[in-house]
Parts: sequence; C-alpha cells; structure tokens
Amino acid sequence: MPFRAVVALVPGIALSFPPNAHADDVSGTQGCRRVRERGSDGVIVTEDFHSIRRLPPYVFEEVNRLKAQARAEGADIVDFGMGNPDMPTPPHIVEKLIETVRKPRTNRYSASRGIPGLRRAQAAYYERRFSVKLDPETQVVATLGSKEGFANMAQAITAPGDVILVPNPTYPIHEFGFIISGAAIRHLPAGTGTDFMVAVDRAVRHSIPKPTALVLNYPSNPTAKVADLDFYGEIVAYAKRNDLILLSDLAYAEIYFEGEPPPSILQVPGAMDIAVEFTSLSKTYAMPGWRMGFAVGNERLIGALARVKSYLDYGAFTPIQVAAAAALNGPQDCVDEIRGVYRARRDCLVEALGRAGWHIPPPPATMFAWAPVPDMFRDIGSLAFSKLLLEEADVAVSPGIGFGEYGEGYVRIALVENEHRIRQAARNIKKFLARAHETLHNVIPMAGRQSGAGKAGT
Ligand SMILES: Cc1ncc(COP(=O)(O)O)c(C=O)c1O
Repeated sequence: MPFRAVVALVPGIALSFPPNAHADDVSGTQGCRRVRERGSDGVIVTEDFHSIRRLPPYVFEEVNRLKAQARAEGADIVDFGMGNPDMPTPPHIVEKLIETVRKPRTNRYSASRGIPGLRRAQAAYYERRFSVKLDPETQVVATLGSKEGFANMAQAITAPGDVILVPNPTYPIHEFGFIISGAAIRHLPAGTGTDFMVAVDRAVRHSIPKPTALVLNYPSNPTAKVADLDFYGEIVAYAKRNDLILLSDLAYAEIYFEGEPPPSILQVPGAMDIAVEFTSLSKTYAMPGWRMGFAVGNERLIGALARVKSYLDYGAFTPIQVAAAAALNGPQDCVDEIRGVYRARRDCLVEALGRAGWHIPPPPATMFAWAPVPDMFRDIGSLAFSKLLLEEADVAVSPGIGFGEYGEGYVRIALVENEHRIRQAARNIKKFLARAHETLHNVIPMAGRQSGAGKAGT
C-alpha cells in the first residue's frame, strides 16, 4: 500500500530543471521548445519564453502539490512546509486598518514609495532598534512585502550579464529576482560548516566580469544561521575594497531566540555608502498576507528602487500603510508574544523529534529548523526523504535541495503548526523511523535515488 501512493506522487514532483518531468505536451515549433505543464493551482505554464525557461517550478508550489494530493487521499497532514505565519495579526493593527478603510479618500491611489508617516515610522524603528539614523525622504521605501522590494531592486540595479553573488541554499527570490533581471548568478556555499567569507573571496577573484552585488541573509532562511556585527564589519570592508553593492535581507530581525538580537548591516560605519537592507512586517507582526515590507539604506540605491516602483505600482492600499505605521509605532509586546510562540514551538519540536530519534540543532533565530536528513535516508536525498515523510508519516517539510544545490542533505521545518500538532508529527515520525529499514527496502527503488529525483532550481 505505501508504495502505490509513493509511485503516484513521483510524477507530481517536477523539481528538475529544465522542468520536464510532468510536461503534458512537447513539440518543436520553429526552433522553439514548447513544453506545457500544469501547476498545482491549475495554471498552464509554457516553456517557450526566455524568462520562463529560467524559472523552475517554485519550490513551495511543488510542496503544495504533494500536500494537495495526499489530502485528497484523506490524509491529515501536519504541514511544516511553507513559512506562512499562522498566528493572527495583533488586534490593534487590524482595528487601525478597519478605522482607516472607513475614512473618505483612502480608496484612492496611494504613494508608491509609501506614505510619509509610514516611512517615518520605519526610520523611527531603525533608530530605536539599531541606533541607525535614516532620512525617511531619501533612505526609506515601503515595499509590497520584502520579496517585491528585493525583486524590484534587482531589476533596478542589474544589466544583463552582471554577475551577482548569492548564498546557496537561500530563499529563492535572492537568486531568481536577479535571474529575472538577466543577471548571471554565482552561488556561494552557505550551508552548515562552510566559511562564507572564504566563498565570497574566491568568487570575487574568479568571476569575470567582476561581481556587482552580494546578497546576504541573516538570520537565514533556510539555515537559520545568524551574523554578528563583526562579520558585517568584515563584509562591508571587503565589499568597499571590491566595489560590491550589499543587499541584506533582514526579514527575521525580530524572530530570534538566543544571544543578542540580530544586528542590522547599517550599524557598521560606512555601510550606508554601499548597502540596502530589506525588512518585513510579515513575520514580526504576523502580517504575511498584508504585503508590507521596507528597503532602507544607500540613497542612490533606494532612489533607483523608488524609480522602478513608480512605474509599476501606486503603493499598498492606504489603510494597510496606516495600519503598518500603527504596528511600528504602537506597543511592541505583541512582537514579544509572537517571538515567544515561535520559541516554544522550536523547543517543542527539537525535544519531541529528539525523543523520536531525529536529532536536530535548535535554530537560534527564524521560524525554521534546518534539519539534517537522518543518516539512514541520506543516500536517497532530501526530496525523496520529504516524499517519504509525507507518505509514511503525514508530515510535510521542504526539501533542502529546493533552496539550492548546497541545501541537499537537509530539510526545512517551518514552525507554523502549534505544539499539539508538533507532538502529533513527532509521534508519526517516531513510528516512521522505527520501520525505516522496511520502508527503505520497499520504497527506494520507486522513489528514485538522489541522482534521479531531487533537483530544484538546478
Ligand atoms: C528570508 C526571507 N526574505 C523575504 C521573505 C518574504 O517576505 P515578505 O512577506 O516580506 O515578502 C521571506 C518569506 O518567507 C523570507 O524568508
């Protein structure tokens, strides 16, 4: 029985690139490769466009497709797949939204860069939290989530063929924002046990043309690695010597559990000359669907982003911007509470999985655990292991390979289920591990060995 379903799941996974594993129509037309595939949302994607050929199916979409199939078969999946915060937005923020929606004229086009009060609120946050002074007029732009801000910054500063240094594994927009802009990506191994500075230096010395920008993401999605100010100081000095723009993604600024709160790269003296930093309300205030983030930093870079955005959008809906300003200016105990919930889930996960026989390092920050694939399953790779977990334990995780080739050997577990569900998942996993030998014996030939199955975005 287990194998029937595993086999059924295999065609649903098309994490290979170029994506062809679930193409339903391939034909040659005037030298163009035509492939049609249907996404989990039912949308048909054709492969005959230059950009689309460079965008493999989004890793989260693949995870969703698998979950949908399992649920359709009646499974109760404990879903650690996507980093989609599940807590409610704090009530005072929701109230501010409702109050503002009722006001006249808030239905009109808003300001692409963000309304002045929102930019001032973000500047005040940077001053309060990092002691970094920002000019809200020239050094702050509100974005439609940090993902949009990052992608449009890539668009603003990239010429086709520019070389961009991107950590690997990493959150997909760090790579694909630049790929959409026509850049060439040089991947920097950034997994467990790697020295990032060594990788940066090696890439700079061996890339032609010289790289123009370096992406940083601490605390990291997916590895949960954190950076301290000394590290940022070293990176800033190095970037200045080598004419690199620094793009720092600080989406998890407030989701931390150990040691000092994560610093901002802009705390490094002189960083403002070359760096832009992206933050988000999605995780800090449990507002992922509101789409509200910020880019702050160097005026020339912020100006370039603002120019691109002025052609693309009119800013977020004004009531969302007003409520976002209320979030930043208002009481911050809700942030402590949200952090506390993630911390409790993290502790519960590490403890319960440990008792189940799967020992994972506690993440010092973020809403993710970066868990090594248990030894017994290392040979089959993170994608096949994730499929087995889904099929045999009703637990969804994201395969590390989906975050880049150096993510292989790990899976990402998002802390988006409550403690009760985490314990339920651990019980399922304990049973799954207990019969692992039998499962491996029966299933590996069908799930596919590492070389055949698990490649996302490579
Ligand atoms: C590292 C990182 N950056 C950016 C984002 C996107 O956040 P936003 O909702 O602000 O677009 C995420 C979301 O998971 C993330 O993990």
